[in-house]
Amino acid sequence: MSKFWSDVVHKLTPYVPGEQPKLDDLVKLNTNENPYGPSPKVIEALKLEAADSLRLYPDPNSDKLKATIANTYGLKSNQVFVGNGSDEVLAHVFQALLKHSRPLLFPDITYSFYPVYCGLYDIEYQTIPLAEDFTISVEDYDLPNGGIIFPNPNAPTGIPLALDKIEKLLKINTQSVVVVDEAYVDFGTDSAVNLINTYPNLLVTHTLSKARSLAGLRVGYALGATDLIEALTRVKDSFNSYPIDRFASAGAIAAMQDEAYFQSTCGKVVATRKSLVKDLIDLGFKVLPSGANFIFAKHQVKDGAELTAFLRRKNIIVRHFKLPSRIAPYIRITIGTDEQSKKLINALSEFLIDV
Ligand SMILES: Cc1ncc(COP(=O)(O)O)c(C=O)c1O
Repeated sequence: MSKFWSDVVHKLTPYVPGEQPKLDDLVKLNTNENPYGPSPKVIEALKLEAADSLRLYPDPNSDKLKATIANTYGLKSNQVFVGNGSDEVLAHVFQALLKHSRPLLFPDITYSFYPVYCGLYDIEYQTIPLAEDFTISVEDYDLPNGGIIFPNPNAPTGIPLALDKIEKLLKINTQSVVVVDEAYVDFGTDSAVNLINTYPNLLVTHTLSKARSLAGLRVGYALGATDLIEALTRVKDSFNSYPIDRFASAGAIAAMQDEAYFQSTCGKVVATRKSLVKDLIDLGFKVLPSGANFIFAKHQVKDGAELTAFLRRKNIIVRHFKLPSRIAPYIRITIGTDEQSKKLINALSEFLIDV
């Protein structure tokens, strides 16, 4: 607290990211990064970018990157917005499209950055409880609202929402923007991108941090109707003209173009998830169905805090959320390599030996 702070800073409750400890031999399963490095073509592109041209500003419109992304999804470049990670894209979405006189709606258990943006931009919101089985019931969103946002698959549950349900929601809710945050969609969830040309109020956000193994590069994008994209561009151009630097642009273009590498890494993560789920069930865990590169699991006897503390002592970090209390028994485990899964299962077997 300081007398020099503005009122808004006094009132902020900032987002707390998962830890990034600098320990060797750590099994890091806490922030949903990809266990595999980016495509070798990304590394090549980054090396080429380390050149004299760094003295020049990058393209403020990121035209080449937008064209590459548009091409990937069969959209037009003016249906694409790019930003410094999808967190920055989302920040602009909250300010440009979700701040209205009616409350923004999102699930009670979801990505914890959403209420933080509401605090930053002074947006009124209402949380809609997930059903008993942690699924989203789209009927519950049939309320007066200034916008709707949810991740698909949801975080931290990992549960996917079927496309017909999303379409049902878009039919119910035509007067405000519906944002589907597809940060984890490439790990086995159906994308809503193909609905964009039918529903002018649908905005889909993606990140290169997860399926494209580029959390360190900071690139995310939004796809939607041109007037939604224009609103985001207006905010961006009132904030930072160059959110995508020359490295981010070159690396992201190369990553988007290497479809074969992307498919193969996602395939490996999904295969590891399948075997990890089976091993956890054998140890007495209940695992929620996941369409993401993480799983949300609870043990029948040990609670989430105990499991997390024990694993930490074994140099394995997973994520635990104390609140809301409904999810306190669970731990969120990022899918790593098969070898990391093995270390996790060995540690848990040791802990649960007498259970
Ligand atoms: C649901 C969800 N959306 C968006 C993001 C932001 O990703 P990034 O800013 O790395 O693109 C995350 C990050 O963990 C996330 O979990």
